[in-house]
Amino acid sequence: MKAVVVYASKYGSTRGIAEFIAEKLRQAGTQAEARDVGEVQNPGDYDAFVIGSAVYMTNWLKEAAEFVTRNRALLANRPVWLFSSGPLGTETKDDKGQDLRTVTEPKEIAEFRELIKLCDHRVFFGALDSSKLGFGHRMLRKLPAGRNLLPEGDFRDWNDIEAWAISIARALETAKPTPGSNKSAQGGSAY
Ligand SMILES: Cc1cc2nc3c(=O)[nH]c(=O)nc-3n(C[C@H](O)[C@H](O)[C@H](O)COP(=O)(O)O)c2cc1C
Repeated sequence: MKAVVVYASKYGSTRGIAEFIAEKLRQAGTQAEARDVGEVQNPGDYDAFVIGSAVYMTNWLKEAAEFVTRNRALLANRPVWLFSSGPLGTETKDDKGQDLRTVTEPKEIAEFRELIKLCDHRVFFGALDSSKLGFGHRMLRKLPAGRNLLPEGDFRDWNDIEAWAISIARALETAKPTPGSNKSAQGGSAY
């Protein structure tokens, strides 16, 4: 069972989450590696996928969304978990009392649920270091609402991410073919 944690990250915080998940999977006994979405040459080499993207203006990064749509036939036959790294700040609810991780679900996820049978999708809080931002993003942050909507800091919740990674490792462990049986991880029935 070989898993890959594929990520698209503009300024590195989503990469950090992906590398952490891969590390936790390995610690739990699953063969796993984190790979930038542009580095995955042969997706068919992997038995399970965790795919994550940073979220900008309510969307996944294009290269991550394209990875899912391009490989949908393969992914439909493999266990797939998705994550989005987005909301910033210490508030966990919006003005209406709704969980920010629910209301900030990127637009693509509903479409992905139609394309492939997802094991799960999670939104994790992200991080923002204004000194790293490119020109366009720096200007957006200077707009009146920008600083409030996009506070600076590292809001990644490592306990939350670790618990999720462990749940993935457990699901993969349960789905491992037992010696002498024909059961395979492909097809996703055990997820
Ligand atoms: C210009 C800009 C727009 C953003 N738009 C969103 C958004 O629509 N939804 C969201 O949840 N997070 C948004 N974020 C927060 C980022 O998703 C967050 O900082 C993420 O952790 C960045 O990941 P990266 O460092 O891997 O690029 C935005 C950040 C910036 C700078």
